[in-house]
Amino acid sequence: MEQVLYHPEHGYYSSGACAIGRKGDYFTNVSVGPLFGQLMVAQFAEIWEELGKINDFVIVEQGAHDGQFARDILQSLQERAPEFFEASRYRIIEPFPILREQQSQALEPFRNKVEWRSSFEPFTGIHFSNELLDAMPVRLIRCNTEKLVDLQGDKILFIERPRSSMAFNQAALDWVDNVAANLQRGYAITIDYGRLGNEFQGNVQVRARHRHVDSPFEEIGHADITMQVDWTSIARRAEANGLRIAGFTDQHHFLTGIISTWPDILQGPSSNLTALSRRVLAGADRKAKRALQTLLHPEMLGRTFQVLALAKNVDASASPLSGFKFAREARSALGL
Ligand SMILES: C[S@@+](CC[C@H](N)C(=O)[O-])C[C@H]1O[C@@H](n2cnc3c(N)ncnc32)[C@H](O)[C@@H]1O
Repeated sequence: MEQVLYHPEHGYYSSGACAIGRKGDYFTNVSVGPLFGQLMVAQFAEIWEELGKINDFVIVEQGAHDGQFARDILQSLQERAPEFFEASRYRIIEPFPILREQQSQALEPFRNKVEWRSSFEPFTGIHFSNELLDAMPVRLIRCNTEKLVDLQGDKILFIERPRSSMAFNQAALDWVDNVAANLQRGYAITIDYGRLGNEFQGNVQVRARHRHVDSPFEEIGHADITMQVDWTSIARRAEANGLRIAGFTDQHHFLTGIISTWPDILQGPSSNLTALSRRVLAGADRKAKRALQTLLHPEMLGRTFQVLALAKNVDASASPLSGFKFAREARSALGL
C-alpha cells in the first residue's frame, strides 16, 4: 500500500491518478454532492459555539483529495454562517504537490481562507477526515504469520513470514498520536468504514472503476487499496494519549441527529421566487433528496460508515454533539 498508493511518481494517490465519483473508481460521501458538507457545517458550527465562538478557530482537513469537501464547507459557511466563516481558517494537510495544485484550483474563490501544510501543526478547532484511515498502509497479520510482498523473477507475490511485533495498523495509530499532540482544544471527527476489534476481518479491498479487483497485484497504481478501520484500537490509542471519546455511531444515526437538530438545512425553495429559479431549485431539490437517501440509507452509505469523535480540553459534562444524540454510549459501543 505504501508504494502502490504513495510512491512519489507512480502512486495511485500521489500521482493524481485517483478519480472519485461516478466517472471514477468509487464513491465517497463527498462525491455524493454538496449536501454532505452542508450537514457537516451545522455540526462544525455547534462546536465553534461550544468553544466560545473564538476568532482563531481552525478547521483542519486531512485527505482532502481534490478540495471538493473544503469548497462545500466554505461555500456553505459563507452563505449560512457568515460570523463563523469570518472567525475561521481552513487548513489542509496535504503532502502531495499534485493534489495541492488541484485543491488550490478548486478553492480559488476562498484563497484568503485556506492554508496548506505538509504535516500536523498545533491548532484549536476541528480536525476532519473522511476515508483517510482506510487508505493508510497496513500489515497483513494472521495468528503468528505475516504476509509480505515479494518479487520473484518478474512476478509479484505474497510470501509468509513469522509476524513482526508492529501493530497491523501502525500508520493509523501514529495518526492518533499526531492528532493528540497537536489538538490544543476541540474535536477530531473521522468517518470511515470499519469494525470493532473482536469482529475484525483483516483483508485489503481493491477497487477500480466501481468494481472489486481480485488481487492487489492487478492494476497497480490504477486501483484503490483500502483496509477497514479497527475502531477499537484507534479509540484505545486515543484514550491512552489523553483524548476523550466524544461519540461513536454509524453515519445513519449521526446525520439523523444533525438533521433533527437543524431541519432547516433540508428546507426546499422559498415561495418568493421567479418561475425559472423555482425550476432550477426544484431540480437541485430532487438531487439533494437522492443525495440524502444515499448518505442515510442503511443499505447504502448509512451503515457502511461510522463516525468517531475525539475531544480535548472541552467540557465533558456538556450535552453530546448533535450528531451523537441518537447514539449508544460511545465507549461500550466501541467495545471498551
Ligand atoms: C479514500 S481518499 C478520500 C478522499 C476524500 N476525503 C473523500 O472522501 O472523497 C483518501 C485520501 O487520503 C489521502 N491521504 C492518505 N494519507 C494521508 C496523509 N498522511 N496525509 C494527508 N492525506 C493523506 C490520500 O492522498 C487520499 O486523497
